[in-house]
Amino acid sequence: MSQERQCYPDIDALSRVCYVELRRGAAAQSCWRFLVFHRYKTPHSYEVIAEFYISLVSKTGYDYIFGSYKEHNANTKSEIPDFQHSESIHKWSSPFRKYIATVYSGRWLVEGNPQIILFDIGSAAGSLHDYKCELYNNTKIGIPHPDVECNDAVIFGFMVAEFITQFRNILESESECKPHVIAHFHEWLTGIGLIQLRMKNVDVATVFTTHATLLGRFLCAGAVDFYNNLDKVNIDEEAGKRGIYHRYCMERCAVHLAHTFTTVSEITGVESNHLLQRIPDIITPNGLNVKKFAAIHEFQNLHATAKEKINDFVRGHFYGHLDFDLNETLYFFIAGRYEFGNKGADIYIEALARLNHYMKASGSKKTIVAFMIFPAKTNNFNIESLRGQAITKSLRDTIHEIQVKIGKRMYDTCLAGDLPDPDDLLLKEETVRLKRCIYASHRSTLPPITTHNIVNDDKDPVLNALRRCCLFNDKNDRVKVVFHPEFLSATNPLFGMDYEEFVRGCHLGVFPSYYEPWGYTPAECTVMGIPSVTTNLSGFGCFMAEHIADPMSYGIYIVDRRWIGLEESVRQLAQYLYDFVGLNRRQRIIQRNRTERLSDLLDWRILGTYYRQARSHALHKVFPEILEDEDQRGAGRLNYPRPLSEPPSPSSSRHTTPAPSDFGSDDEDSVDSEAELQELNASSNNDSSTNGAN
Ligand code: UDP
Ligand code: G6P
Repeated sequence: MSQERQCYPDIDALSRVCYVELRRGAAAQSCWRFLVFHRYKTPHSYEVIAEFYISLVSKTGYDYIFGSYKEHNANTKSEIPDFQHSESIHKWSSPFRKYIATVYSGRWLVEGNPQIILFDIGSAAGSLHDYKCELYNNTKIGIPHPDVECNDAVIFGFMVAEFITQFRNILESESECKPHVIAHFHEWLTGIGLIQLRMKNVDVATVFTTHATLLGRFLCAGAVDFYNNLDKVNIDEEAGKRGIYHRYCMERCAVHLAHTFTTVSEITGVESNHLLQRIPDIITPNGLNVKKFAAIHEFQNLHATAKEKINDFVRGHFYGHLDFDLNETLYFFIAGRYEFGNKGADIYIEALARLNHYMKASGSKKTIVAFMIFPAKTNNFNIESLRGQAITKSLRDTIHEIQVKIGKRMYDTCLAGDLPDPDDLLLKEETVRLKRCIYASHRSTLPPITTHNIVNDDKDPVLNALRRCCLFNDKNDRVKVVFHPEFLSATNPLFGMDYEEFVRGCHLGVFPSYYEPWGYTPAECTVMGIPSVTTNLSGFGCFMAEHIADPMSYGIYIVDRRWIGLEESVRQLAQYLYDFVGLNRRQRIIQRNRTERLSDLLDWRILGTYYRQARSHALHKVFPEILEDEDQRGAGRLNYPRPLSEPPSPSSSRHTTPAPSDFGSDDEDSVDSEAELQELNASSNNDSSTNGAN
C-alpha cells in the first residue's frame, strides 16, 4: 500500500464535528448513528440500492453511511476529496492507520449528498488470514479460502468494527461523558462487523436487519413447498447441502448477537423465526421517497403521456396485426429479478391464458397487452422487433412529409382564391409511397412473443410457459404477450423510456410472488398511482392488508398464496384480472386516484418511524439513560378505511365463473377533457377527508 494512496481527509472533519456534536450531545443526550452496508449481488441497478440507503439516511437520521470502496463506482458515483496533508489529519488518522489500510470519505453523488465512509477492502487484503483466524477462534466460523465474496465480507467487517471502536475511543478520551454510538448493519455481508464489535465488547448499540434470509432464498430457488415445510427444515443440513454453511453461520451469528434484530416484513419474520431461530424485535418495512404532485391530475396526465409511448411501441411490435383498438387496450406487466416461480411468473402466465379464454368467451371488445420484464441472457434484440419499429417509423415519417406538402398546396390554392378539391390533395406519387409503406407492413408471421434473441430459448421458463399456454399473439387472442428480457432504460430502441415512465403508462402491475420478503415493484406502482396485484406471501401485500380496510377498492389486489392451493390461487388471480378488465375508463381513473392516495403510507417519512423504534430498542438495552431521545412507539396502525364513494370494481356482484354479464358496460367512457377529469378527481376525493394515516 503506497503512502500516497492513503486518504483520510474527512476523518479530520469528522473529528471536528465530533467535538461539537459531543458537547451538544452531552446536553441533548443525542448519539452517533452509523449505517453499514456492503454491495451485494442483486440485479438491482446501483441507483435502486443507493436510493434505499440514501433515503434511510436522509429520512431516518443516520449520520454516516459505511460501504466498501470500489474504485470505479467511487469515482463515478461519489465525490472523494483529494488527500490534503495536514497536521490534524496526521493526528487523527494515526490510530486508524495502525489497523485500517485505506479509508475514503466523501459525498455520495445522489439526491441529498449524504456523507459516506468507504473502506478499501483490497488495501487490507494482507490481514485476511489473521482476521479469519481471529474470527474462527472467537466464533468457530471458518471461511473457506475460495469464497472470495465472504473473504471480502470478513475484511470489510473487521475494518468497520475497528473504525467504530477507534472512533468511539477517541470520543471517550476527549470528553468526560460516555459517547453514544449506534451501528445499524444490513444483510449477512455486513454481519462480521457486528460480530466483531460484540466479541470485543465495544460499548456500541447494534441493530441487524435482514431483507431475506440466506437459506430462505436458496430453498425457494428449488421447487419446494417452502412455507408449508418451514418448521420441518433441518437448517444445518440444508445449508451444508447447498455449500453455504459458513455464510449461514455468519448471518445467524450476527442475528443472535445484535441488540435488536429486525426484518422488512412479517412474512420474513416468520421465515427468520424458523431458519435463523430468532423472532425479529421490530419489523422495519421498506419505504420510498414519495414525490407528491401539487394537483392530483398531474400524475394522471403523466399516465396518459407515458401510455402514448407504449402505444407507439405496440403499433410497431404488432404491425400488420393491429386489428385491435388501442383506445380499448390495457397494459399489464410483471417485472423484477428473473426468478420464475418466486416472482409468480408461472401463475401470471397461467392466469393470462385463462383471462384470454374468459374474454373470448364473453365477447369482450378489449385487448390486453401483457408485458414480462425479467433480465435473461440474450444475444441482443431480434430483427423482427426492430423491423416493426422501423416500419411504423417509416410510415410516420412518410405521412408527415406528405402532410406538409398537402398543407402547402392547400395554402397556395386558397391564396389564389379557390377551394382545394379533396380529390386533388393527394398526388399519384404520394399514393404510391403510401401503398409501398402499407405493403411493407404486411407480415406472414405472428408478432413475436419476445423482443430479444434469448440464449437457450428452448429452456427459458417464460417462453416455455407461453408455449404451453398457447399464448402466441394470434389475431383471435384477446391477451397478447411481450417478453422483454432486459430491464428498461431511456436509451432502449424499442420503448425509448425508462422503467418509471413505463410503469406510469401501464394500467396494472401484476406481482403474484411466492417468495417476496418485501417487493418494491408493487410499492413503486402504488406511489405512481398504478394499481397492482400482490400476494399474502409478499411483505408489501401483508403490510397493505394490515393497514387498509379494503385494499381492492384502493387498487391493491392481494392474491392468497398462503392458505389455498395453487389452482385456487391461479383462479383467484384470473378473476382479479378479469374484474379489472371490466372497469371502464372512469372507474380506472377513480381507482388510480385512490391508489395514489396510499403513497403517504409508503413514504420514508412514515416508515422511518420503525427505524427510529429499532434504534430506540437497541439504545435502551445499551444506554438506558438516553431512552427518551428516540421514538419508541413505531408508526402504529395506519388506518385507511373503506372509501365512501361508488366502488370502482364490479367484484361485489361477481359470479364464481366469469360470464359476459359480469362485465361493466365494457364501453370506454371518454373523459379526455381536463375539466371532466378534475371533476372526477374531486368526486373520488370526496372520501379522502376520512382517509389517510391517522
Ligand atoms: N426495476 C428496474 N428496471 C426494470 C424493472 C425493474 O430498475 O426494468 C427495478 C424496480 O424498480 C424494483 C426492482 O427492480 O425496484 C425490483 O425489486 P423487487 O423488490 O420488486 O424485487 P427483486 O427483484 O428485488 O426481488
Ligand atoms: C388520465 C388522463 C386522461 C385519460 C386517462 C386514460 O386520467 O388524465 O385524460 O383519458 O388517463 O385512462 P386509461 O385508464 O384509459 O389509460
